[in-house]
Order: sequence, then structure tokens, then C-alpha cells
Amino acid sequence: MDQSYTCDVTHRFRRLRENDNLRNMVRENHLSINDLITPIFVVEGQNIKSSTEAMPEVYRYSLDRLHEELDELLQLGLHQVLLFGIPEQKDSVGSGAYDENGIVQKAIRYVKSYSPKFYVITDVCLCQYTDHGHCGILTDSGCVDNDPTLALLSKIAVSHVKSGADMVAPSDMMDGRIGAMRQSLDREGFTYIPIMSYAIKYHSSYYGPFRAIADSSPKQGSRSSYQMDFHNSKDVIDVAKASIDQGADLIMVKPAMMYLDILHELNGSINKPLVVYNVSGEYALLYQGIKSGFVNESIVYETMIGFKRAGAKLIITYFSKLIAEKWL
Ligand code: PBG
Ligand code: ZN
Repeated sequence: MDQSYTCDVTHRFRRLRENDNLRNMVRENHLSINDLITPIFVVEGQNIKSSTEAMPEVYRYSLDRLHEELDELLQLGLHQVLLFGIPEQKDSVGSGAYDENGIVQKAIRYVKSYSPKFYVITDVCLCQYTDHGHCGILTDSGCVDNDPTLALLSKIAVSHVKSGADMVAPSDMMDGRIGAMRQSLDREGFTYIPIMSYAIKYHSSYYGPFRAIADSSPKQGSRSSYQMDFHNSKDVIDVAKASIDQGADLIMVKPAMMYLDILHELNGSINKPLVVYNVSGEYALLYQGIKSGFVNESIVYETMIGFKRAGAKLIITYFSKLIAEKWL
């Protein structure tokens, strides 16, 4: 083969990569601090900062120590948070979830008064608050009862917003929840509060570590009757559109890493900001891989750029502090 010909072909692709400055100029995807949302776990009690084995460096805070986390986030410029609560008491209808003095409601008021810089998003669900651990209430025969659950979810959302939440994020996967919630928020005068819908949420083993830290595993059965089946992808556009028709302002895909095909597809057909949730199991895998020395921590940044490339506007990730420290 002609040597100079090979050389030309090489340069045709390499011209844009040879120079650091130019390589940056032509980059299609970047990560910004404003892309990141940090999950925070709050728990009843005093002087608590505890982690679980699968999620080192992710903590549950009691309100009296929450400032430790908030200070770190402020210092790094991470202002967007997603709040999860772990209540002291659970019951069959998850009443702790819509109590005006519930753990999340108190946490919202605390965070908002700590610094107005924080943009507070709340996870709206029942599973941390029900004694059976499901995301909805149950019928006598133990099935998740869709329609009666909608009223409770709406009550949770309204109570979060009354406490000062800037956005609500229902993660329960009941049919019709976005419409019900939108109506309730509007009726209370909260027409300006956006809903981030966990619209495309697959039934996944990647949530394992979260369920340990949030104490939200179903005691019996699984979430497969309401979360999506990962063997399928044909219906995701319809599902996302139904969510939007009901009033969803942002559409989430969850999990993230193994679901980039879904994200990419939605990016081509949905005209709402897309959000990915880089979930607990993904965090655990990457974290352990890095700690063991088998992979370099730069895989975290590479993973985030993968999300951006596939179409994510926002990324919910337990790595936000590391990312802000190392790469932003
Ligand atoms: C509650 C909820 C879950 C997650 C977010 N909200 C768990 C589940 O549905 O079982 C998972 C988050 C993670 O794994 O990091 N419905
Ligand atoms: Zn749930």
C-alpha cells in the first residue's frame, strides 16, 4: 500500500485532535456544575451521620448534622439537591410521607433557610414510609392499589411544596400520578412548581444499595407490577408522552448506564429536558472498581459525558462532589 496515502487518511481524522486548544473548541459535549443534582438522605434522630456498606461516602444525616453536607455542597457550587427521607415510624398508608412535620418537610425548611442558593427537589413516593415497603397502598389481597394511591401521592407533593420545595419528583410509577399531582398542585395555587417525572423507571437490581440506605425494600413481592420491564423499549416514547400530556416538565430515565439506548431514543422524540439517574448500584460498582485500583477514577467523568452524549440535560449522581472537585 502507498505510504503517503495511509498518512493522509490518518490526518483527515486527526487534524481536529492534534491540538489541545482546538480539541476543546470542537467538543460537542461538556459537563457543567449546573448539570448535577445531588441526592441527600435525611433521617429522624440526633447526631447521625451514617453510611451503608455498599455506598461508602454517602450518608444519612439527622437534621442537626445536615449542615456538614450542605457546607460541602455550597463550597463546591453544587446547589441542586434531591431529598429523600427516612422516617422513624412506618404504617400501612405511609402517613409519615405527608405529615407537615415529617422528616422531609422539616428538611426542606431547614435547607431553604440554611441558604437560599439551594434548589430543592423532593422525591415523592411512599416506599420509605409504608411498613410493607411498596410505593403505593395495598388492597386486602396485597396488590398495589393504583387509584387510591394517587390521592396520597398528591398530598405528599403538596406538603413538600408547602414546606418550600422548588420541584417535586414522583418516583412511584402509578398510572395517572402526574395528572393527579398537577391538579392538586394547581388547586393549591402552586401552578409554578414543575414536576420532574420518573417517567421511564425500570424494575432494576441496580437500586439494591439505595433500598438499604433508604430502608425501603418491599417486605413481600417486588415492584415488577408497576416498574418497567427491562426486556422492552418499544413503549418508552408513549410512556414519556403520556407523562408530558399529564403535565410533566422534565422526563427522567432510570437507571442510567445500561439505559443509554433509551435516553438516546427519547432525545430524538421528546421536547422536554431529559434527566438521568445514575443510581446507587451504578455508584457502588464504579466506587468499588476505583477503590480496588482496577480502574482509574476518570471513568466517572467519562461516564457522565456518556450521559450527556446520549442526551441527558441533568444528571442525578452520588458522585457530584467528586466530579465538582476533580473535573469542574
Ligand atoms: C423510591 C426510589 C428508589 C430510587 C429512587 N427513588 C428505589 C426504588 O424504586 O426501589 C432508587 C435510587 C437509587 O438506586 O439510587 N421509589
Ligand atoms: Zn417508591
